[in-house]
Amino acid sequence: MTTLFDPLALPGLTLANRVVMAPLTRNRSPQAIPGPVTATYYAQRASAGLIVTEATAISHQGQGYADVPGLYAPEQLDGWQAVTDAVHAEGGKIVTQLWHVGRISHNQLQPDGQAPVAPSAIQAKGKTYLIDADGKGHFAPTSLPRALALDELPGIVGDYRRAARAAVDHGFDGVEIHAANGYLIDQFLRSGSNHRTDAYGGSIENRARFLFEVVQAIADEIGAERTGIRLSPVTPANDASDPDAQPLFEHVIRGLARYPLAYVHTIVGATGGPRDHQQGDQPFDYAAYKQAYRQAGGQAAWMLNNGYDRALAEQAVASGEADLVAFGKAFISNPDLVERLRQDAPLNAWDASTFYGGGEHGYTDYPTLAQQAG
Ligand SMILES: Cc1cc2nc3c(=O)[nH]c(=O)nc-3n(C[C@H](O)[C@H](O)[C@H](O)COP(=O)(O)O)c2cc1C
Repeated sequence: MTTLFDPLALPGLTLANRVVMAPLTRNRSPQAIPGPVTATYYAQRASAGLIVTEATAISHQGQGYADVPGLYAPEQLDGWQAVTDAVHAEGGKIVTQLWHVGRISHNQLQPDGQAPVAPSAIQAKGKTYLIDADGKGHFAPTSLPRALALDELPGIVGDYRRAARAAVDHGFDGVEIHAANGYLIDQFLRSGSNHRTDAYGGSIENRARFLFEVVQAIADEIGAERTGIRLSPVTPANDASDPDAQPLFEHVIRGLARYPLAYVHTIVGATGGPRDHQQGDQPFDYAAYKQAYRQAGGQAAWMLNNGYDRALAEQAVASGEADLVAFGKAFISNPDLVERLRQDAPLNAWDASTFYGGGEHGYTDYPTLAQQAG
């Protein structure tokens, strides 16, 4: 029987265990540059089978929150090189989550104070996070976006491609395409945020076109075997809405089967909320969605996330429902989460007040079991 602690050999990389650190935005990268404390934070968590970094902007236009890191300027990439070196020195594996927020942004964060961009000019009912001149952070409503012109799309696909190349050139073992949680790719997918009447809107095929262009470009650039993707079929995060999630995501997942990806990462239910959340009248059928992928020939590792504890994760891996389980908040407060799960030891509680922004407190000062024993 497979356990959480068995290794997993993917075509592009071998993971020491099935416990993945989920992507976690921490807003601790002033000027979008990850610093030495970020290298320490990830190195502390290198016993994860795989680390997925916090969402990282592929371009200035892709930025939507204060103090989140980027992959588009040399100083940012130097910062990431120190992170990947530190994780590799501890024997870990790390991919970066490629992010364009689309409409989940604020003029204040955009180049020249312009409006954020989106498939359609529809403001999200949602918040972003800003830091004032006095250094104080606060949540603020997202700005009204402008609709992207058709001829702007190749440039954004090019930004994804460039960011993926820069990531592997700076030590990342691969990338995760962030197609979840109501950000740009997800905004194209869903009827609530995509009212376009051109080749990128309307039918499911058209709404998924942008996603597949991004996947194709990244697979061409760094190889599909170094590429993962994150999807959240029914999340309401960031005002994501589509009453017909099942056919939409079955189309997406069947199309992804064409690429020999490293993994497919699915958030079950509402991100950070109920696992049985649904959009529309019907509960989402995750088994049918997975079956659609396998029947189309998809062979990538199957990663699940959202609200997993040890028992649920063990059961998912033992039953074959998942090959990998990603843990979010538990990894914030437990740098040695893998060892704690192995021993069935108690977990440190997380402090939500230090999730976003701040310094080392709530970031690099959570103790390991060994430190607690000493
Ligand atoms: C502080 C915080 C930051 C997050 N940042 C990201 C992110 O950058 N990218 C992403 O895809 N999800 C992000 N998420 C969602 C988590 O990856 C994960 O889906 C969620 O926490 C549920 O998993 P859990 O129950 O194991 O915590 C974030 C969640 C939290 C709590």
